[in-house]
Amino acid sequence: MKSIKEEVNLENKKILLRLDLNVPIVDNKIMDTTRIDKILPTLRFLIDQNTKIIIISHVGRPKGKIVNELSLKLICEELSKKSNQNVKLISKNVKEINSKELFNNNDERIMMLENIRFYSEEEKNDEQFAKHLATLADIYVNDAFSCSHRSHASIDEITNFLPSYSGLQFDQEVNALKKITSEIKKPITCIIGGSKVSTKINIIKNLIPKFDNIIIVGGMANNIIKFMGNNIGKSLHEEGSDKIIEEILLLSEKTNCKIIYPKDVLVGKNLDGNPQIKELNEILSDDMILDIGPKTIKIINNIIDESKTILWNGPAGYFENPKFANGSIKIAKKMIENNKSNNIYSVAGGGDTVSLINSLNAINNFNFVSTAGGAFLEYLEGKKLPGIKALK
Ligand code: 3PG
Repeated sequence: MKSIKEEVNLENKKILLRLDLNVPIVDNKIMDTTRIDKILPTLRFLIDQNTKIIIISHVGRPKGKIVNELSLKLICEELSKKSNQNVKLISKNVKEINSKELFNNNDERIMMLENIRFYSEEEKNDEQFAKHLATLADIYVNDAFSCSHRSHASIDEITNFLPSYSGLQFDQEVNALKKITSEIKKPITCIIGGSKVSTKINIIKNLIPKFDNIIIVGGMANNIIKFMGNNIGKSLHEEGSDKIIEEILLLSEKTNCKIIYPKDVLVGKNLDGNPQIKELNEILSDDMILDIGPKTIKIINNIIDESKTILWNGPAGYFENPKFANGSIKIAKKMIENNKSNNIYSVAGGGDTVSLINSLNAINNFNFVSTAGGAFLEYLEGKKLPGIKALK
């Protein structure tokens, strides 16, 4: 894998720069800008080398359709402000853009294509689509480590058509994760939460042999709570996950890895509702599980105290509503406390987790904070990520 920092001849080159600007947006407002902040050094580097830059990114999961709320307009404006550069959003259908139309004005240095997931070809890793994207530039740079577990056209197939490099942020993430995985101290605990159940549930099985404790919270825990014979009402869950949960529990017994899931929860009647503490056997059909309860927080705190390394990925509840943020905040605070007293090596990852830690102004109280969620877990699993493989 070659880093763009090692390429000496960049003068006047057009760079196709894949970024992950998938930031949380609520009511037309960006709630956390970490993913934008982290790629600014790459942008600065490319500007200093006198290149022209075409940014590709996605936000959300529009599934191959144009979804106006998932436009990159707001993100483009924020990037312009933060980089102090004019970044021009190109809304034209990307399949109809011809390279000759770009950078005709001498002042134009940075362009951004509209959400690449508006095109179904992106997630299909479509060869023709990637080939067309490649006609727009001379060089491809992947600075989206957090998307590199996806075999998508702008991550994977594109590397077959352009000289391809990793970006500065990508290098930093991979180097930090390499160090963590080689120097890890036991007992190791992994806390997995969040709402992307389908992305993460299969990963857990592969993590079991490497960890002493796996604490499952957030949307994923609902599947286990249901598997154990409880009613989960209207809560987020993944259909057909019983088999994988059975495998997870069996394997954890064999390998002596403890699986911990909530013993009590906070429910609401809807996302804006009021919280009520419930035992697992008290959940009603119109309840939604939206956070972990006080007993569970106590159990998690004890496990954090007994661990030497903690990897945390995904919040414990629907923290966007402060009434359901308590579980995630308590986990963060306990990790911060133990990190300050040098008792643990702590690593956090994922867009939502980083946003939560930022809201507590505590990014520096973790040994490493990764912008990657799914990619971070798959890397820990020991999988070869398609984005890394493609660059190699
Ligand atoms: C992320 O937020 O982890 C990345 O942007 C990838 O998003 P995805 O899970 O929708 O592929």
